[in-house]
Amino acid sequence: MKAFSLAAVCLCALIVTGCGGSDDAPAQPQVIAHRGASGYLPEHTLGGYELAIRMGADFIEPDLQITKDGALVAIHDDTLNRTTNVATLFAQRNGGYKVADFTLAEIKTLTVVPTGTGKVSYPGFVPSATSPFTVPTFQEVVDFAKKQSSAAGREVGIYPEAKQADPVMEDGILKTLNANGYNGTSKVFIQSFSDATLRSLRTKQIAQNNKMPLILLGVATTAADGSVRMGVTGATGVQPLTLKDVASFNEGVGVLINNTTYPVTKAFIDQAHAAGLKVHGWTFAQADATLAAAEFRKYLDMGMDGMFANYPDLAVTTRNAYVQGK
Ligand code: G3P
Ligand code: CA
Repeated sequence: MKAFSLAAVCLCALIVTGCGGSDDAPAQPQVIAHRGASGYLPEHTLGGYELAIRMGADFIEPDLQITKDGALVAIHDDTLNRTTNVATLFAQRNGGYKVADFTLAEIKTLTVVPTGTGKVSYPGFVPSATSPFTVPTFQEVVDFAKKQSSAAGREVGIYPEAKQADPVMEDGILKTLNANGYNGTSKVFIQSFSDATLRSLRTKQIAQNNKMPLILLGVATTAADGSVRMGVTGATGVQPLTLKDVASFNEGVGVLINNTTYPVTKAFIDQAHAAGLKVHGWTFAQADATLAAAEFRKYLDMGMDGMFANYPDLAVTTRNAYVQGK
């Protein structure tokens, strides 16, 4: 049944986007595979990214950390123990398992394990990668997206997140993207929770004459007088930035959904659009198909431009029906 569902979603995606791919297709809300198809397979793995692509996701999302020897790797946490078998292979270092305390060669010996509703396999899906459930480097994610784009006949976007507010991270992301031919017309977004990181990235992009779109992550704030701001979360709490300020260094915002303190409203999305900003939402994590569809619809109806989804097939199904007016 699951294998049939996967085929149906892929076929549906082709009908909506056209066999030539989505590069020149009219703008439609984008499905961003949050940490890959993380509701089904181990997060941030080539296997998980591939399943998401097969399900019709527009983007795969590598969160990035830096190894001891300076490599960028796709992993969410700054530690290895939640998502890998590191504790069975290595002793703790400096009291834990920080990515920054392990070399790339050591990290490459690890297996990424499923978390949450994830499993080690998905019915009817055979990963094409030789090692589908190891920690990939950012370069390997880029290579994989390009290979999968050729195989799928459409451009698979990448949406890297700088998980460290660190110039080394900024430089590594830009160096990799520049070296692989990404530019302002590519299907790419660079995201961060740090406005300082994004401001720095924009300055560097301008110096390099290659402006790829940037997305600021945070919360949607609404003041007592109804005015909206982009809330940047940090050590000192939520710092509100005007949308005009955000638009001065950035192309969009990624906002937390389903939060009672900071609800995403249509007014926020409308005003962000008026400021020239795209609005993406995170994280769509509802596993029940009916409840998920209702949740996607709620935000699509408000004008949301992109959805980070743990179950990309559910997002694609609802998005496709939405753009078809169903
Ligand atoms: O990047 C958007 C969303 O992924 C932020 O949450 O913690 O999963 O990176 P996180
Ligand atoms: Ca992320």
